[in-house]
Amino acid sequence: MANEQRGTIFEEQAEVLAHVTHPGDQFVMRVKAPKTAVKAKPGQFVHLRVSDERALRRPISIMLTDPERGTVDLLYKAIGEGTHLLSERKVGDLVPMLGPIGEPFDISDLSKRYVLIGGGVGIPPMIFAADNLHGRDGDCVVFAGSEVEFPFALKPSATLLPGVNGNAILAVRSLEERDIPSRLASNAGLYGCYEGHVPNLARDYLAALTQEERDRCVLLSCGPHPMLHAVARVGREFDLPTYLSLEEHMACGIGGCAGCVVKTVEDGEEKYRRVCVDGPVFEAGLLPEFA
Ligand SMILES: Cc1cc2nc3c(=O)[nH]c(=O)nc-3n(C[C@H](O)[C@H](O)[C@H](O)COP(=O)(O)OP(=O)(O)OC[C@H]3O[C@@H](n4cnc5c(N)ncnc54)[C@H](O)[C@@H]3O)c2cc1C
Ligand code: FES
Repeated sequence: MANEQRGTIFEEQAEVLAHVTHPGDQFVMRVKAPKTAVKAKPGQFVHLRVSDERALRRPISIMLTDPERGTVDLLYKAIGEGTHLLSERKVGDLVPMLGPIGEPFDISDLSKRYVLIGGGVGIPPMIFAADNLHGRDGDCVVFAGSEVEFPFALKPSATLLPGVNGNAILAVRSLEERDIPSRLASNAGLYGCYEGHVPNLARDYLAALTQEERDRCVLLSCGPHPMLHAVARVGREFDLPTYLSLEEHMACGIGGCAGCVVKTVEDGEEKYRRVCVDGPVFEAGLLPEFA
């Protein structure tokens, strides 16, 4: 798998074009990184050098690209020293960036309906996947969960989704405006959201589909571990192919240090895979923790 990536990871001096703060220490950053913008696929990430003094880079998922303008959008939460240093980067600064890295989500089968389930800073790969599918007339629905205000413009949805209750009326505006259905979940009492965890919202939706519709579904997810466990359970309940994007602590980020390995069981054999280049996306059934 990783061999296919040789020669496809670039080092670019990514110029910060916009950097917007949102509630809950969330930041949306647009950088100019033309090589990454052209090559990136949903599920891949970039590895950023957050300051001149810190050699260790930080991995951040790609949320959206514009290959023509050469831009890459990222959403991150400032949680520790590295991401706080990143949040101090100003428009015009250059951020050394490696990308795009990792095995992306497989969204090649356009006969499927991709059910995209993102939580917190796991939402970005779902936005990217929805955008990519839309560009190819693919079928998808996005469910996003957050316990702080969403860092996106929202608007009431004009489409009804099976199994989704009346309170959950808001959708991500950029998706809604392109007829990509989406709904939001939160336990924080946010207006217009389903009250509860986002995997439960996705479950309600799946349970309300006909068997024929459900059989076309593939679950793709990124978010905190407890959320991924819940998504894996939903996948098992409905016997659906389920792919999870893992977050693991990383050092090199390009397959050289084995600092990010995760145990898999493939054809009955235990293996250790590097999350950075063999993942971050894995089929849930291969991961003993989620199987
Ligand atoms: C493939 C991938 C994609 C990611 N995408 C995003 C994203 O789109 N937005 C976002 O906000 N965050 C994302 N993360 C998590 C982000 O990389 C961490 O929040 C960040 O590295 C924390 O660094 P820090 O120095 O601020 O925090 P500290 O806690 O001070 O970090 C100390 C060390 O722990 C590592 N670390 C801490 N938390 C995590 C974590 N959750 N996952 C992996 N390593 C961690 C750091 O890399 C660093 O080496 C992603 C992680 C991975 C592996
Ligand atoms: S972080 Fe070095 S191999 Fe993955």
